[in-house]
Amino acid sequence: MQEWLDKIESSDSLDTLEQIRIDILGKKGILTAEFARMKDVPNEEKKEFAQNLNKQKTAVNSAIDSKKTILMALALDQKLKAELLDVTKFSTTNGTVGATHPVADTMEKITSYFQNLNFSVEEGPLVEDDFHNFEALNLPKFHPARDMQDTFYCNDGKLLRTHTSPVQIRTMMNSKPPIRMIAPGTVFRRDFDITHTPMFNQIEGLVVDKEDQISFANLKHVMVEFLQHMFGDIDVRFRPSFFPFTEPSAEVDISCIFCKDASTGKSCGCRVCSHTGWLEVLGCGIVDENVFKAVGYEKVSGYAFGLGIERFAMLIHKIGDLRSLFESDIRLLEQFKGSAK
Ligand code: DAH
Repeated sequence: MQEWLDKIESSDSLDTLEQIRIDILGKKGILTAEFARMKDVPNEEKKEFAQNLNKQKTAVNSAIDSKKTILMALALDQKLKAELLDVTKFSTTNGTVGATHPVADTMEKITSYFQNLNFSVEEGPLVEDDFHNFEALNLPKFHPARDMQDTFYCNDGKLLRTHTSPVQIRTMMNSKPPIRMIAPGTVFRRDFDITHTPMFNQIEGLVVDKEDQISFANLKHVMVEFLQHMFGDIDVRFRPSFFPFTEPSAEVDISCIFCKDASTGKSCGCRVCSHTGWLEVLGCGIVDENVFKAVGYEKVSGYAFGLGIERFAMLIHKIGDLRSLFESDIRLLEQFKGSAK
């Protein structure tokens, strides 16, 4: 008996302990065999014999139970130690430290530039209605300028917004002038080639104040300062253009940063700028009266601008193919480590 108890006490694993239990109390166990001998014991000795066996059985069972509790606690402790995950530990094994994606980085840089100028940051839905995406922006049904925006339509007549300009409309309808806002966000168009992806990002800007307060000169000043902040020492030019929601409208070019001659400071023309020396970077203009009418504004003036984030990211980081920004190729993304500030 003592020998069994010692064995139980010194067992060092749950498996060993279970084996000991089987050896003693299992179907073919030593004690089980003793119980089987009962039938051969003379009647007058049976009681004492049974009592003795039951005592042994209880002692073995309780020794096993208490040992089991100890061993289980130990096993849990070991398991926890083995599975311990130190999330604060710095990995030096493969050097994969995350980096901000160039699109997110550019979005953040532009957003914080305008926040510093006291522009609020506004948002709108990605699934838009015709009114906000087109109608209120002076793009009535069947207007030829709608063709400029290859739209994804949903079954219920709604659409995926083709630009961030609808946020202008929503913001004006939800607040009163003066307004200084930007709207960064994702937009969608049915387009896919080296310079177009069906999903991309834009930032829209809108400033509205009292009648005669906002002029093209204000717009020009803000755009030139902004572009020089983003691209450094570059020339900026405004080309007359057309957007339904602004009149007059302009497209803005910067002098090409790829073929700038270090001695003269002039851009001499290269493949990227189609040998013109200029790169188109944004659209802007004075808000059209019809847009103000659509949102119920009277006696106000304002300017608006819109730009593509990916285009800025590509120029800033000198990336050749727009599609590579969306492929999540670690080899490309790793090159931007440390570029985010
Ligand atoms: N919404 C235009 C587009 O997606 C960009 C744009 C141009 C926005 C001129 C403006 C603007 O607010 O004034 O192509």
